[in-house]
Amino acid sequence: MTADTAAHETFRNANAPLEDRVEDLLGRLTLAEKVALMAGSAAFTLHGVERLGVPQVRVTDGPTGVRSNEGEAATVFPVGVAIASTWNPELTREVAQAIGREALALDNRVVLAPTINIMRIPNWGRNFETYSEDPFLAGTLGTAYVRGLQDEGVGASLKHYAVNNQEFNRLTVSARVDERTLREIYLAAFEMVVKAANPWTVMASYNRINGTYATDNPYLLTEILKREWGYDGVVVSDWGAVHSTAPAANAGNDLEMPGPARWFGDKLLKAVEAGETPEHQIDAAARRMLRLILRTGVLDGRDPPKGELRTRRHRQIAARAAEEALVLLKNQGELLPFDPAKVSTVAVVGPNAAARRIQGGGSSQVRAGRQISILQAVQDLMAGQAEVVHADGGDNEPVPPAARPDMFSPDNARGQPGLTVDYFAERGFEGAPSKRQVERQIGKLVSMSAMGLTGSGVGALRWSGWFWPEKDGMHELSLRAPGHGRILLDGQVIVDPATPGAVDDWDVGGMRVERRTGRATLSAGRGYPISIEYVRPESLKGVTWEQVIVGVRQPRGSIAEAAEVAAGADAAIVVIGAASISEGEGYDRRDLELPGDQNALVEAVLAANPNTAIVFTGGSPYAFPWIDHVPAMLCAWLGGEEGPDAVARVLFGAAEPSGRLPVTFPRRIEDTPAWPYYPGGEEADYGEGLFVGYRHYDRAGEAPMFPFGFGLTYTRFRYADLKAPEQVRAGDPVTVTFTLKNEGQRPGKETAQLYVRPRGPAVERPVKELKGFAKVALAPGESRTVSLTLDARAFSYYDPARKAWIADKGAYDLLVGCSAADIELQATVRLE
Ligand code: BGC
Repeated sequence: MTADTAAHETFRNANAPLEDRVEDLLGRLTLAEKVALMAGSAAFTLHGVERLGVPQVRVTDGPTGVRSNEGEAATVFPVGVAIASTWNPELTREVAQAIGREALALDNRVVLAPTINIMRIPNWGRNFETYSEDPFLAGTLGTAYVRGLQDEGVGASLKHYAVNNQEFNRLTVSARVDERTLREIYLAAFEMVVKAANPWTVMASYNRINGTYATDNPYLLTEILKREWGYDGVVVSDWGAVHSTAPAANAGNDLEMPGPARWFGDKLLKAVEAGETPEHQIDAAARRMLRLILRTGVLDGRDPPKGELRTRRHRQIAARAAEEALVLLKNQGELLPFDPAKVSTVAVVGPNAAARRIQGGGSSQVRAGRQISILQAVQDLMAGQAEVVHADGGDNEPVPPAARPDMFSPDNARGQPGLTVDYFAERGFEGAPSKRQVERQIGKLVSMSAMGLTGSGVGALRWSGWFWPEKDGMHELSLRAPGHGRILLDGQVIVDPATPGAVDDWDVGGMRVERRTGRATLSAGRGYPISIEYVRPESLKGVTWEQVIVGVRQPRGSIAEAAEVAAGADAAIVVIGAASISEGEGYDRRDLELPGDQNALVEAVLAANPNTAIVFTGGSPYAFPWIDHVPAMLCAWLGGEEGPDAVARVLFGAAEPSGRLPVTFPRRIEDTPAWPYYPGGEEADYGEGLFVGYRHYDRAGEAPMFPFGFGLTYTRFRYADLKAPEQVRAGDPVTVTFTLKNEGQRPGKETAQLYVRPRGPAVERPVKELKGFAKVALAPGESRTVSLTLDARAFSYYDPARKAWIADKGAYDLLVGCSAADIELQATVRLE
């Protein structure tokens, strides 16, 4: 091509208006090329147009960080619920900008994030990944996240659209939800983000909504999202969520993923030829795909942006976010922060003390480059100041947790972590391996391409090297894989297909796979030769991936031992919470119980040492039956790679806690409004309607364990001088101002929340709803005036009969407080 022809091709001209470029390029495509754009070319790669030099765009998972498709390490940021606990849109945007730069460094132009689905039940497996029970908070933070990614020239994928709130039957369940609840609770955050931040893609969810799959749903995709909200980006299916050809394309599902096409591609071309899908529908989808490709800048001829991976700057952003995410739940007698000058021995006990609990499981899981425990973080911070003593106090893992690379080495010199992996493309282990390499990952997502197989192949893998126990005693080694597997330790077969297996709840990917566990008594400090074999079964022919999980359970001590360690210390920290497998994509928890004997552990340590603080690590509410008699408790969530250090800093007063709960913590799961309807079967009835989270507790007049919006600080704030107009014209903005003063001795950040309460509404409405908030940093003695403006939507409900949002005339209370259960100031405005 000469420079001259290029100049006439508007689509190549980076200075031409986007829509002109899109139309020009669309006009050059054949029907087949347009249809090709509507499906991926590979699992995480879109199609380009080779003939015209339009490159393929690569996408990657989020939202915790970049889940590299090549298994590269990236910065692990706090998980969604932790980000939401910051109540800080600016910080959320900075986190997303950093993730955007990491995506670019790994050559990705779209990150499949953020997850903004409503937390309807406290046991949803993906609560950790999403933000809140409240659509205003989820929408505000979702907007910030999308802006952050797109500031860097990386597209977002707002997910999962819509009403995707449980993992039970996640691929098929139909949410039965009334129109008003749909609009006010489940779509409101999507509407807000789409209108405010225009994400380049929106992901259609797996589930059905009122009987129709999200990907087949013209009402959701075309009528509401595209027409009513004016969305101009791409609707991408969740991975494998398309179930039809013409219905999905006609409904407005623009892109089928993963590639290559299963329902689109040739089938869609035939549907067009058969007149089942009109050509203008293909044009409309292709136009959106081209808009996406052009938005990424891949055609703009400039040097591709380099991005940035795991830099100091990104670690600092992750650290700030981890710190602001920490929610101080209790602090009687100002037990915290511990004064390092007065504490010469600290006990750090509990099953999550030495564990590295920093993120949840599933597609959002980032390969961590740096992973430490809270125990390690306290040791680092207290080095030279206090002696840190430790005991696990028992185990909380229901099954042996995934093996860590540093428990192994490829040779008996223990020079590096990991094992040697031999790949056999043919059946069994005969002959020479087709590939041999040292890998850190023990067990893995096995994909056919990684094994050098084609669709018809079976193959085999063997990990071999040395296993290094860290403790003396009985160990369990487990293998969970769909095929024929064995573990040989020190020359003995400890697991083979004859070992009795069990299928457990943690059924990632929907494969019912048995876990087989062997036992061996081992000594710390010496290496044991190990080999782990996996033969891919013929039944997986054509399946693109399966998961092989190797587990190791180490001896974890006793409650009595932990109590004894705590008794001899000046202060104790009990780190409890989720097991490594408790929370993840693909399954819900059955209840809110802490796994293992953790309740007994807490009681025993408290009895041994009253100077005890509890640290909870997990991504969702749990039941804490002892909560009324523990003096201090910090909710650490799953704080990403900087999380443990942030916990240590807050416990010892090197940083201030300022997080607020974005979700109610009930006392019992039965108190949850949706519980009577959960999980449903093929259908899930959203019978609680609008009354999700605090909307329920307000109506019922019940006090949960911890209310929405709750969190303590190390200082005290005073709220005063609320000013609001007494009367405005309906539709006009309402500005509310008030003063916040830090009356304590320490700096801190207060999260002031503004709720609107309609007086005597004409239709049933929640008692009050969050419509504004501000996080304000104040030095001791400092005060500041906060101003929040409410628009008409803040007073409105959705009227399905009129198909409109209605702000009825009348009186509305404006409630300013520090949680949904603690209102400090109140005024009333009349809409006329
Ligand atoms: C998840 C999505 C994810 C996709 C690609 C799906 O199973 O629901 O959130 O983006 O996989 O990994």
